[in-house]
Amino acid sequence: MDKKIAVITGDGIGPEVTRQAIHVLNAVAAQFHHHFHYEYGLMGADAIDKTGNPLPDSTIELCLNSDAILFGAIGHPKYDNDPNAKVRPEQGLLKLRKSLQLFANIRPVTTYAALQHLTPVKAKILEGVDFIIYRELTGGIYFGNKTLSADGNMASDDCAYTKNEIERIAHLAFQAARQRKKKLTLVDKANVLETSRLWRKLVREMQSQYPDVSVDFLFVDNAAMQLILNPAQFDVVLTENMFGDILSDEASVLTGSLGLLPSASIGNGGALFEPIHGSYPAAAGKDIANPLGSILSAAMMLDHFGLKEEATKVRLAVQWTLDNGFVTKDIDPMNFYFTSTIGELVADLVQDKIPTELH
Ligand code: IPM
Ligand code: MN
Repeated sequence: MDKKIAVITGDGIGPEVTRQAIHVLNAVAAQFHHHFHYEYGLMGADAIDKTGNPLPDSTIELCLNSDAILFGAIGHPKYDNDPNAKVRPEQGLLKLRKSLQLFANIRPVTTYAALQHLTPVKAKILEGVDFIIYRELTGGIYFGNKTLSADGNMASDDCAYTKNEIERIAHLAFQAARQRKKKLTLVDKANVLETSRLWRKLVREMQSQYPDVSVDFLFVDNAAMQLILNPAQFDVVLTENMFGDILSDEASVLTGSLGLLPSASIGNGGALFEPIHGSYPAAAGKDIANPLGSILSAAMMLDHFGLKEEATKVRLAVQWTLDNGFVTKDIDPMNFYFTSTIGELVADLVQDKIPTELH
């Protein structure tokens, strides 16, 4: 298989974790006789520094002409602490999602026995936890009209959704549920928000097309509580943009480290793969960040290409590193390996090289 992959390493730890994902993709290519070609584009604070624009047109062009996009991380503290900043790194990612119509953000939440001691949640509660969040990504309050009054005393962000925007991601979520435990939970705030009532009505109407899937409705405040009280009840969680952003960070607590969660953003054609973690500026350049979120995002990319065996091999290699204590600093601050060491180890395992000695 021949694939062209657009690589946007982005900010902070983005470049170093993405480098390891590419290592692993190269190992997959060697082992399974594929050809992956990489072309690099700018986005985020990195792009602002170099071009003044968080998403140069050339990057959009590159992404439109690629089979998939591998993305690292975005964000820089110098913009977070400046309320007057006119240009922000995050605008780059939001514009890319919108330009490519990447409307479905898919975030699987997997727990690992070897990491259970890291979560504040009791082991018993984590039994059987395996769910996937389908977060709407190109609508809602993120993209509504924004205003700030001339005197600076009033601001607003509109939240809007169309039938089409809701139904297209709901179809994907129903189809995913069909392949899994056949349960869909819509998370909304239908007791207060008009947009939520539209989500609920449309999802209810779609149920007749998926009679084998059972549907649950939860208000977002209750869902936030249920995620910690009884996370094993979930299979596919469907929700709008901002609720999905918040709940997926919360859900990462169940896995033991935010550094492990991958995601895929798909839509009409394009597909972008990125770890859900941020740019972690304090760790940038130190070779201590966890590359597994990025490596597991590359595994989701392999799934997207239809390379199931390859994706499974990467996941098993990741599992092996965790089970055998080859972990980064976020997981074991006293006894840890470097980002690059873990990346090389996963790449070696993918190529059936049994590690003899590690540095
Ligand atoms: C995420 C991030 C982004 C979001 C930011 C960086 C704009 O938090 O991908 O979850 O809110 O969507
Ligand atoms: Mn987020």
